[in-house]
Amino acid sequence: MKKIVFASNNSHKLAELRSILGHRYEVLSLADINCHDDIPETADSFEGNALLKARWVKDRYGYDCFADDSGLEVYALGGAPGIYSARYSGATTDVAAANNAKLLRELSGADDRRARFRTAIALLTSDAEPVFFNGTVEGHILEAPRGRGGFGYDPLFVPEGWTRTFAEATGEEKNAISHRGRAVAALAEYLDNNFND
Ligand code: IMP
Repeated sequence: MKKIVFASNNSHKLAELRSILGHRYEVLSLADINCHDDIPETADSFEGNALLKARWVKDRYGYDCFADDSGLEVYALGGAPGIYSARYSGATTDVAAANNAKLLRELSGADDRRARFRTAIALLTSDAEPVFFNGTVEGHILEAPRGRGGFGYDPLFVPEGWTRTFAEATGEEKNAISHRGRAVAALAEYLDNNFND
């Protein structure tokens, strides 16, 4: 089976990708190819950071590769935390709780609580320029967290048309409409149509 690297060691994301692409590809993690590098994510956009990661693997390890970068964009905050979503509060322990607390402080009293999650995926194969896939899900930020599932900003985020937060949904329900689910679906469709050996 054709091998492709997903430039990540996140076991949840890997399992998800393997269930979607596994019938056609052996999806390898960074650990699987013995890459333990601290890959720089110094670009100023999701696409840029995804491409940095994919290019690092392609250039140094030679595999076809794709990488993702995601975050939360809050309208009233001019798109923050955006590419800084993971390190928004600067906390090193209890990171998600600290990030959520900072977000609530920044939005306190705000009427406009609209936000969206965004994922960019960059795909690098031997015979092509990079190809990008995007996924977004629109929603709003609550005034207090709700739910125990998911991760990151999930307890504060209610997707459009829902009353529950992502943290109150099952993984399946979330994947069906999430930014990552949508970007991955676009990637899977592209791979199916373009790399049929
Ligand atoms: P990553 O690029 O997928 O690692 O995401 C970077 C950061 O964005 C995470 O550390 C979270 O803070 C936030 N984030 C991305 N996707 C999600 C999600 O599905 N739910 C909640 N937070 C997310």
